Amino acid sequence: MSEESKVLVGVIGGSGLYHLDNLTLIKQVNPETPWGFPSSPITICALPSGTQVAFLARHGAGHTIAPSAVPARANIAALKSLGVRAILAFSAVGSLREEIAPGDFVLPSQIIDRTKGVRPASFFEGTSVVAHASFGDPFSNRLVHWLESRVAGVLAAHGAGAKLHTDKCVVCMEGPQFSTRAESKMYRQWGGDIINMSVLPEAKLAREAELGYALVATATDYDSWREAEDSVTAADVFKVLQNNAQLSRTVAATILDELHGAAEEGGILTEQVGSMKFSIMPRSE
Ligand code: ADE
Repeated sequence: MSEESKVLVGVIGGSGLYHLDNLTLIKQVNPETPWGFPSSPITICALPSGTQVAFLARHGAGHTIAPSAVPARANIAALKSLGVRAILAFSAVGSLREEIAPGDFVLPSQIIDRTKGVRPASFFEGTSVVAHASFGDPFSNRLVHWLESRVAGVLAAHGAGAKLHTDKCVVCMEGPQFSTRAESKMYRQWGGDIINMSVLPEAKLAREAELGYALVATATDYDSWREAEDSVTAADVFKVLQNNAQLSRTVAATILDELHGAAEEGGILTEQVGSMKFSIMPRSE
């Protein structure tokens, strides 16, 4: 692969986001990894400038994979095998805060793990290597910071009032059922701002693979904490999903070129390279 045609950025699409806009299909690949096949074949496509990106639908091309069954290890390994250095992961989320309205975008900086331990969450599981990745900052700060002004710019131009919220905490729950009202209120007390079922173990695995990773979250509902309101249903989520997905495609189409071009700038894509160096426990004889 020539230098210009390197695929440096991978995009993972969440609910509603099954393709990107304004791209020319180059090929589809379906790499088998030691952890099986990814959720969907990966589409390699080119922006009008020639910049190539890799796109993967987290829940499968026809949304057939439930959050607990997403083959996250295969997804991350497959993207890494293509040469991807950083991942922009899109996800629909519920809002745990009044000020984060359905339709708004969020670039979170923290995660609370409420998955139930059923999702394989490490590449080292089942091996004789013991590794403890550093995960205090679960997203790639430089990448997130870089995204802030760009996403805000796209929303100002095309967002029809959609706001961007930064430095927020995403709760990742197991699902597939939504939270009870008591859980929803508890997450607010814990400091959660938004909630989804998908950011983990994806973010942990990206860290173990030393890939940059940022979540672009789009709010679809107010979950179940608002006393006077009905609790969230899948129908509520679907109502907002299509609009959010269209705006997410506009965000991607607008920023991907610049992001690819910024690859060598201040380690925006490569912040995690080398981060596992001191994570592997030395064997004692
Ligand atoms: N994804 C979208 N809305 C959600 C919610 N309220 N809870 C969990 N995941 C979601």
